[in-house]
Amino acid sequence: MLGHIGVASRAEIKKMVKQGRVTVDGLKVKDSGLQVNPDQSRIEVDGEAVLYREYVYLMLHKPAGVVSATEDNRDKTVIDLLPDEYRTFSPFPVGRLDKDTEGLLLLTNDGALSHELLSPRKHVPKTYEADVAGEIGDSHRQRFAAGVELDDGYLTKPAELHVLEHYEKDGQSCCRISLTIVEGKFHQVKRMFEAVGSKVLYLKRVSMGTLTLDPELPKGAFRELTEEELYRLQHIHQKENQ
Ligand code: URA
Repeated sequence: MLGHIGVASRAEIKKMVKQGRVTVDGLKVKDSGLQVNPDQSRIEVDGEAVLYREYVYLMLHKPAGVVSATEDNRDKTVIDLLPDEYRTFSPFPVGRLDKDTEGLLLLTNDGALSHELLSPRKHVPKTYEADVAGEIGDSHRQRFAAGVELDDGYLTKPAELHVLEHYEKDGQSCCRISLTIVEGKFHQVKRMFEAVGSKVLYLKRVSMGTLTLDPELPKGAFRELTEEELYRLQHIHQKENQ
């Protein structure tokens, strides 16, 4: 589809096609639905070669206060954080983070990869860091390792808990922890801590499968995945399928 040349939105491309500004192998394109093989054809807009690609893969450092959706009547969405040149690909978030959760969110228009990463059968690990209320210790680690029963009776899969730091806030004991889970039930991390009598005060996702949040990426910023990041993400899940 010519709608994805990565220099303008689909609507803009359509307009440019109508204006006669787009050529494929030197021939003016009249129909923006024309099928083009970008490996074999040279696409130009106003006589300049353009990079054509079908998919886009973005790592977003989600800030609190935006929702993991493509559209929302009330709140700003993660897609609102992208400029038009990326929105033209119609990316969507791979899974959801709560509005108040920060951290790693993959945005793509590659439905197949998204499906692989989210499939419950694949058990893709997701690691979170959190500040939680109360003293967390070895008994919690063991309970999480065995799986905990959530408020609706669901027994979670084994999860790996590490205590990173103990500290006091407003006279109350708190802990910074990391937790790796292999599923994605609604509000799962928060509900797991509620199940053991604690409460999540702050939550951030730091990794999903082989993809780790780039520590150089400021909150609210995004970047494209590197070739290696994409390869590893695609490759590891292919291997898991075998
Ligand atoms: N678990 C939660 O409770 N919230 C999230 O945003 C992600 C995992």
